[in-house]
Amino acid sequence: MNTLLNKIFRTKIDIVTKLLNINMSKFTMTVNPIIGKKEWVQKPEYYDYYQEVARSSYADMLHDKERNEKYHAALKKAVQSMRDQGRPVKVLDIGTGTGLLSMMAARAGADSIVACEVFHPVAKCAEDVIKQNGFEDKIKIILKHSTDLTVGPEGDLKEKANILIAEVFDTELIGEGALRTFQHAVKFLLEPNCIVIPSSASVYAQIIESSLISSWNTLSPLNIAPGKVIIPPKKVTSCHGSAAVHDVQMSQIPQDKFKVLTEPVYVFEFSFTGEKSIEMNETFIKQVTSVTSGNCEIIFMWWDLKMDMDGDIILNNGPKWVQPDPDQAQVCIQSFMIYLYIINYFYSKNIVT
Ligand SMILES: C[S@@+](CC[C@H](N)C(=O)[O-])C[C@H]1O[C@@H](n2cnc3c(N)ncnc32)[C@H](O)[C@@H]1O
Repeated sequence: MNTLLNKIFRTKIDIVTKLLNINMSKFTMTVNPIIGKKEWVQKPEYYDYYQEVARSSYADMLHDKERNEKYHAALKKAVQSMRDQGRPVKVLDIGTGTGLLSMMAARAGADSIVACEVFHPVAKCAEDVIKQNGFEDKIKIILKHSTDLTVGPEGDLKEKANILIAEVFDTELIGEGALRTFQHAVKFLLEPNCIVIPSSASVYAQIIESSLISSWNTLSPLNIAPGKVIIPPKKVTSCHGSAAVHDVQMSQIPQDKFKVLTEPVYVFEFSFTGEKSIEMNETFIKQVTSVTSGNCEIIFMWWDLKMDMDGDIILNNGPKWVQPDPDQAQVCIQSFMIYLYIINYFYSKNIVT
């Protein structure tokens, strides 16, 4: 699989470099650290664009070894299951990105694969990558949102698929419209008794105290030059605004910079297989027991994906202490980070055990 990934990554870089070199002006988007606004700046010709591409989220996904291996394992299991049932293997890959999961399906022996992608620049990239890997006769790429796909002899899919593979999640799980995507696919694009990868997702939470993380939601004095400091007015620093969400790599937060106040708590589950209807607007109240005294300032949240129907393959983006093998956890890049909410001070409470 490493060779496949290297090939994809290499091709992707070549394509982006080719595109960028059409005219030699090298405009780059940067964030102005003082005003926080995005702006375009012109970089010299020799500017290292490989770094830019390597930092893009598609590259993060391609480097997320655990994610890729778990999708691969679940896909191989699903293909085998269809074969065991004597059914043809018809895969639909929603949100193919660079084409990785479709190529895994081709390697696993699927009979037909339709890959759809709504973001045209990356769909074009996938076309190239798939061609370079020799899968162009096996994988049909459709540059559309999945909810616009048609089924029928003249349609995007000749017949409904019986394996859906979709990695349409962001760090907060459903921010890319995943619920609507799965709901529509199960209803219109898949046969009955199909396999959906992943089949469900569970969300977890844990309450934390951390003055470091709380400070991210507060304006601090800014040193702009020797002896020159911008001090925000008191009215601004005492107004903490609404609860804010941040994506973090847990390995980047030193362990002595936060205190865990409760055990992790399971919050709810989304099923993607269509067995249970997906509620779009649900509220849950959960009781949690404190394990130590402190200020409830932060909620860590994470999720796990059940990749197969039996629950043997689980992809978990939680902190180290909830991983089956904590020593091995988070040694490599996670494209899905843990996310945390900084609770508005108005709602934050002191708890005493
Ligand atoms: C998280 S990326 C995953 C890319 C690729 N499948 C992989 O695993 O490396 C999700 C991709 O899905 C696309 N996408 C999300 N929802 C989609 C939908 N309903 N139909 C088509 N494309 C979608 C996004 O544009 C993005 O390229």
